[in-house]
Amino acid sequence: MGRRPLIAGNWKMYKNCQEAVEAAGEISMLVADVLSDIDVMIAPTFTALAPVAEKIEDSPFFIGAQDIFWEKEGAYTGQISADMLISAGCKYVIIGHSERRQFFHETDDTVNKKIKAALDADLVPVLCIGETEQERENEKTFSVLDNQIKKGLEGFSPEDLKNLVIAYEPVWAIGTGKTATTDQAQEVHNYIRDLIGKILGTDLADDMRILYGGSVKPDNISELMAMTDIDGALIGGASLDPESFSKIAHFT
Ligand code: PGA
Repeated sequence: MGRRPLIAGNWKMYKNCQEAVEAAGEISMLVADVLSDIDVMIAPTFTALAPVAEKIEDSPFFIGAQDIFWEKEGAYTGQISADMLISAGCKYVIIGHSERRQFFHETDDTVNKKIKAALDADLVPVLCIGETEQERENEKTFSVLDNQIKKGLEGFSPEDLKNLVIAYEPVWAIGTGKTATTDQAQEVHNYIRDLIGKILGTDLADDMRILYGGSVKPDNISELMAMTDIDGALIGGASLDPESFSKIAHFT
């Protein structure tokens, strides 16, 4: 069976509860016709998760969180557990987004713990990896990705990771309007799939969905999706507007 495409929106710190509910309602109508062929996921802020889930209750599109904490419960002021995400209606969770790595001290070690917490609770982790502009210029792209993947996925079996999604997001392409060329993206996606194959087996690698992220827009999604190893997209800016997100979800 082929890999089922996933179009995922990351709303970052945009949209309060009312705005998120309104946009999610529009999206659920706009994408209804594609949900038999692809998965669609939206990740609103924590506070909007439950109201958004309630709003789209009857629509088979998915809700994701933008982060998770690895402990089950305890005195961890401000943190959110896997169980809390599930009870708010989440199915997915974005882990290790470059903004969290850059601004909130996320490391490959914390990413690893968060993936474990997500998997233990049956949440689907979307592991974000990617190189900075300087790392690319210094030809470090592949070694950076190697590290992020090997450390992030340390200790898991292929069976554990059967639902894992990887999002390749070159940091220099996020929110900058600079997209990797389709060839650049395909080259890296192919490298990631090969690497997963080497460390976890080709069965898992063949089935794993690898998303591209970084300035994805309605006018560049089709050529990205035409690449063999690109199975979907993680979209920031262009996911905020229901119309443009829906156009992306209609990439075919
Ligand atoms: P962007 O963000 O689409 O605004 O570049 C992508 C992301 O951060 O996931």
